[in-house]
Amino acid sequence: MISFIRKAAKTSQAMLCAASILFAVSAHAADPIVIKFSHVVADSTPKGQGALLFKKLVEERLPGKVEVQVYPNSSLYGDGKEMEALLLGDVQLIAPSLAKFGQYTKKLQVFDLPFLFKDINAVDKFQQSDTGKSLLKSMENNNITGLGYWHNGMKQLSANKPLHVPRDARGLKFRVQASDVLDEQFKAVRANPRKMSFAEVYQGLQTGVVNGAENPWSNIYSQKFNEVQKYITESNHGVLDYMLITNTEFWNGLPDDIRSQLEQILEEVTAHVNSEAGALNQKAKQAVIDSGTSEIISLSDDERAQWVDAMKPVWAKFEDEIGSDVINAALDAGK
Ligand code: SIN
Repeated sequence: MISFIRKAAKTSQAMLCAASILFAVSAHAADPIVIKFSHVVADSTPKGQGALLFKKLVEERLPGKVEVQVYPNSSLYGDGKEMEALLLGDVQLIAPSLAKFGQYTKKLQVFDLPFLFKDINAVDKFQQSDTGKSLLKSMENNNITGLGYWHNGMKQLSANKPLHVPRDARGLKFRVQASDVLDEQFKAVRANPRKMSFAEVYQGLQTGVVNGAENPWSNIYSQKFNEVQKYITESNHGVLDYMLITNTEFWNGLPDDIRSQLEQILEEVTAHVNSEAGALNQKAKQAVIDSGTSEIISLSDDERAQWVDAMKPVWAKFEDEIGSDVINAALDAGK
């Protein structure tokens, strides 16, 4: 009788233990997967809007399964730190400007070459080409997977003096992103480039640490750069676009069904960002005009040709690093 009671007690103990493991596993399984999306720009810009749309669609379609937290305006990590945070698994999605990948691949420097793309349509065509798509996978050895390209737009030159021709830029200090190509681009017009993170630009311009910068209209207006730049030259001399990236191990470790739903959502968000970016930049340009802070300078054909002549020699300096095949594919996209 006693041994029967002991046996029964042991069995119920074992059942209790199994039940609590089951409970723990199912409680864990019920926790949503958290995706932190950190970026450095304002919510109103193409990237800011894309991040918010991604959050909205994920929470509509994967409720309780995936939670998206968006951190705009360098509120979680600034330029210098966001890539490191992605690699450490502290954030799961970021979309750095294509100028900020030099440490991981030299091929993406193609996007910084001045006057390589005549407009955003040429950029788009190159991004969708086989070469463009292959660049999304070019950093997987570094645990970085590219999930798509997001447009911002063509860059405009701004300064505290009017810039009509390259010699107007001589001796001025220009803020540049962390890109050796952009460094050389300003050296080519005998200006002094200074690498600086995006969050520091407003103050840099305000205090005169730098005298000028380059950015698309959406960034100029949303960061109030126009309030500290009296002149903006509509130069369209280069592109500022993004690669949306994730940590390869994180992405491959997601359950297949979740990953494929996220990929579907990202495809929709990417299409939306890329179709709306032009309109957002036009709206920001109009807002700058309406604010009356800055004179907008349009270039004559001759003035533009002078900028092209001065800056184009930069291509040759980076041809070996980027690869002439990549540069030619980008040129083909513009034909
Ligand atoms: C961004 O658009 O993400 C920042 C661009 C910059 O650093 O100028």
